[in-house]
Amino acid sequence: FAFTKANLEWAKGQIAKYPEGRQASAVIPLLWKAQEQHDGWLPEPAIRVIAEMLGMAYIRVLEVATFYTMFALEPVGKHFVQVCGTTPCLLRGADKLIHVCEKKIGHQHEVSADGQLSWLEVECLGSCSNAPMVQINYDYFEDLTPESFEKLLDDLRAGKKVKPGPQVDRSCSAPVGGPT
Ligand code: FES
Repeated sequence: FAFTKANLEWAKGQIAKYPEGRQASAVIPLLWKAQEQHDGWLPEPAIRVIAEMLGMAYIRVLEVATFYTMFALEPVGKHFVQVCGTTPCLLRGADKLIHVCEKKIGHQHEVSADGQLSWLEVECLGSCSNAPMVQINYDYFEDLTPESFEKLLDDLRAGKKVKPGPQVDRSCSAPVGGPT
């Protein structure tokens, strides 16, 4: 792994933001950029390159990369689906979304044969009020039903444009018998 010329310049700019001896503070942006450059996941050589650039031990960079679920250490699909499996989402049907993933994509950690999709169950993504929800690449898709989620995966696979955010019209949720 090697950063592209443009990304290397960007990385040097990040490192320069921190005082001498504190270059390790740039570890997250550099991991992020490496992942972005390398089809959404971090191969071991990328972690080694970053460790060297920052004067850190390989294990320290690996610790950071394995702590956050936003970093993938294995190949991911073009559309990487993270399904929230924490209690509020679970109570609102996350188990059914997981079943959809198993049916339409396969096992966790595996990329579908067409390279389009992969999925992982993760902890709370901070959107509990719109449970159940998933994150796909950088976007949130909320208030999902198994049906709307299946359609979403089909649309992504077919290269159609999809709309992030709540998948139901919440403007219709005025309380019954409330003011007219
Ligand atoms: Fe799913 Fe918080 S529990 S977003």
